[in-house]
Amino acid sequence: MKLFLDTGNIKDIETYCAIGIIDGVTTNPSLMAKEAGDPREITRRICRIVQGPVSAEVIATDVDGMIREGKDLATIDPHVVVKVPFGKAGVQACKALRAEGIPVNVTLVFSAAQALLAAKVGATYVSPFVGRLDDIATDGMELIQQIVDIYRNYDFQTEVLAASIRHPMHVVTAARMGADVCTCPPPVVEALFKHPLTDSGIERFLKDWAAAKGAQA
Ligand code: E4P
Repeated sequence: MKLFLDTGNIKDIETYCAIGIIDGVTTNPSLMAKEAGDPREITRRICRIVQGPVSAEVIATDVDGMIREGKDLATIDPHVVVKVPFGKAGVQACKALRAEGIPVNVTLVFSAAQALLAAKVGATYVSPFVGRLDDIATDGMELIQQIVDIYRNYDFQTEVLAASIRHPMHVVTAARMGADVCTCPPPVVEALFKHPLTDSGIERFLKDWAAAKGAQA
């Protein structure tokens, strides 16, 4: 499973890309609004750092506006994936952008039916929002399973990108279900590293080593 970072923060992107575990980045207007500076320039810098797919979302809500904005975003860097919100306009814009060879991430997907429509217009990625479904007492991970099953049945090439990820178990479950990608906010990536037995294990190894060396001296 590919691991994307769900942020527009350059420092976090540099930190986790340097470790070698990040395959791409997703942004959205809320995430970009948190960052100081020109969003185009930030997107360009992210692409240069990650050297993999970087989702940049359109603001337009009409088909022509989404296509125009999507084409413009695609000129920023070859790694840009144009993110369009699900809906009739988003689906139509996705089809048009894909016809021009521009990769598209259809976002704000909350049902398997929506994911099916996104795949039918050749979306490169579909982004089901797990956490926001959990927030309204609906099993977000169950949606991932449904989409994975449907795409397998028909060999759709659209990749399932599990989004709105809130904790490590979302990541593990997405991987077990066969999601192609999981996009995680930096604190979730940080949490993936953690295990108390690893920490206490290192501490004990170092203590034993130091005690043995001290005895020899
Ligand atoms: C990424 O593609 C999504 O925009 C993001 O994961 C949404 O996450 P949130 O529900 O925590 O805002």
